[in-house]
Amino acid sequence: MSRYIHGTSPPEQDRLSRLNDFFNAACLERMRLRPGERVIDFGSGLGQLTRAMARASGAPVVGIERDPEQLETARRLADAAGESDLVEFRAGDATSPPLGDHEWGTFDVAHARFVLEHVRDPRIVVGAMMRAVRPGGRVVVLDDHHPLMTPHPECPGFGAIWGAYMRSYDRIGVDPHVGARLVALLHGAGATGIRNSMVFFGGCAGGEHWDLIVENLRGVIAGARETMLEHQLIDAPTLDAGLEAIGEWGRRPDGALWYAIPWAEGVRGA
Ligand SMILES: C[S@@+](CC[C@H](N)C(=O)[O-])C[C@H]1O[C@@H](n2cnc3c(N)ncnc32)[C@H](O)[C@@H]1O
Repeated sequence: MSRYIHGTSPPEQDRLSRLNDFFNAACLERMRLRPGERVIDFGSGLGQLTRAMARASGAPVVGIERDPEQLETARRLADAAGESDLVEFRAGDATSPPLGDHEWGTFDVAHARFVLEHVRDPRIVVGAMMRAVRPGGRVVVLDDHHPLMTPHPECPGFGAIWGAYMRSYDRIGVDPHVGARLVALLHGAGATGIRNSMVFFGGCAGGEHWDLIVENLRGVIAGARETMLEHQLIDAPTLDAGLEAIGEWGRRPDGALWYAIPWAEGVRGA
């Protein structure tokens, strides 16, 4: 099993949570869920998008999550929002989701966001997603292609720390370029009618979400600190100086971050 590079510390869970608020509407719009569609969410994390999908379709969503802390928080958040009935979070691995015999091949949509980048062999997960949906059902995947990350004007030291960050994925056996493989993964799993697109994930100084975007960039890098140092991909002073520089860069009045998340969907044939 690969290590989940970002961990589950309270600041990391807080980052994920606020990120969801910012990004979920765009993802939901792209999914075009229809009333009554039954969704299974692979790697459901804190479950905010899982619940949003259930609200959008009006049907309960099954979320599969392997991390006990993420699961516990997801259940607590759903409970606090009075939405426990909308979701069924199950402990399990996305490579072999805990579905009963009667459930395979019955879901209308299988969804995974920011999960394939954390598994050693994403082909196994996409294969399981295809088997989970009914003939004619959709498999929707979104994931990072990290080389797309472009801060402008140039942020001093960013190239070095972003390079180390991407290599940290390689070192623990996962793929920082998986977003570029989404179509190939769907094709390999036998999907038909494949479409691809991107969901914008950027902004600029003065924009509504700018502080969150800058903080998130620092947060994802800081979250992989242990892995980067352990594998000697960068030294601590260079990393700390780079994180500091991102903070300063984020206070520029002309700062902009250009990034987008690859998105693809395919249909299970008859
Ligand atoms: C970055 S979070 C994304 C959560 C959610 N999909 C979202 O977009 O908000 C990735 C989640 O996938 C979970 N995860 C990673 N590998 C997994 C696996 N093999 N099986 C189930 N969950 C997994 C992690 O524990 C984490 O909660």
